[in-house]
Amino acid sequence: MLEKIKEIKAAIDAFVIDSPAKLEEFRISYLAKKGVITDLMTGLKDVVQEERKSIGLALNDLKTKAWEKFEQQQSGLGESTVETDAPDMNLPVQVFPLGSRHPLSIVRQEIIEIFEQMGFAMSDGPEIEDDWHNFSALNFPQNHPARDMQDTFFISKNPDVLLRTHTSTVQVRLMEKQKPPIRAIMPGRVYRNEAISARAHCLFHQIEGLYIDRNVGFKDLKQTLYHFVKEMFGKDQKIRFRPSFFPFTEPSAEIDISCLICNGAGCNICKHTGWVEIGGSGMVDPNVLTANNIDPEEFTGFAFGMGIERITMLRYGIKDLRLFTENDVRFVSQFSGLS
Ligand code: DAH
Repeated sequence: MLEKIKEIKAAIDAFVIDSPAKLEEFRISYLAKKGVITDLMTGLKDVVQEERKSIGLALNDLKTKAWEKFEQQQSGLGESTVETDAPDMNLPVQVFPLGSRHPLSIVRQEIIEIFEQMGFAMSDGPEIEDDWHNFSALNFPQNHPARDMQDTFFISKNPDVLLRTHTSTVQVRLMEKQKPPIRAIMPGRVYRNEAISARAHCLFHQIEGLYIDRNVGFKDLKQTLYHFVKEMFGKDQKIRFRPSFFPFTEPSAEIDISCLICNGAGCNICKHTGWVEIGGSGMVDPNVLTANNIDPEEFTGFAFGMGIERITMLRYGIKDLRLFTENDVRFVSQFSGLS
């Protein structure tokens, strides 16, 4: 019985009374005729003679404590009759919910830190662009389908003003203002005229990388991304380069990593291939260097562009792209406490 009294005492101490409803709940649980303390009092008659006195005392003590807390809180919650500017110490504490960082910001920051450790600087550029920076300076032929209205949001035609469709635009902006060596990463938001679904969105984020210097080779590209993937996803993560095509790189390669969901065994996410794509890469096409006044005889470089949503989805097992922009607190609050 003494144990039981102790337990109730702890429960009384821990009971938070911050509203009249809570106060009433406290009264009914502990002080009412059918409350636990009265119950125990009734049970006292069954306690053996030698213990009755000590248990009786403990019970009385418990009852006094419960009444004290009740009365104290009752006066605290009631309207104060004393007019004063001093803070009311009886007011219950207001708990403000803590915000959390958006998962895309968390992952973006992680990516930046990994590349910064390898000596990459940060750079950025505008989201509203022109044809030159989004296409022409990147060696897109005039009739390339990506220039089509279907992919690109045009703000005006002639002169071309558009929402950038990729962060490769910042490569051009950077080459305009800086001579090699250039070693930078460029995160940012991009836009494409796509129907919104679990797998596609009209706005998303990329991170671009560019490294131009003398004697930069494909091996440097491979090693840089190899290191990035190990740092980002763990040392057992496998990476592969799949030949591809981009107008601004030659040769070009898609970057795949082994599927984090099934560990390469094959699942829906990786379409049973065991691999998932995280971005594109390649050696900067000499035409791009020339268009940006860099001599391709003297300098070579590599570039890459990765999807931040894609990396975040793989990282946290998120299956629907729309969750990122819906601002549902139940989704974003799951990332609180992560830096
Ligand atoms: N800009 C490409 C896209 O949006 C991605 C990309 C591929 C960027 C290869 C690069 C690169 O810098 O070298 O799909």
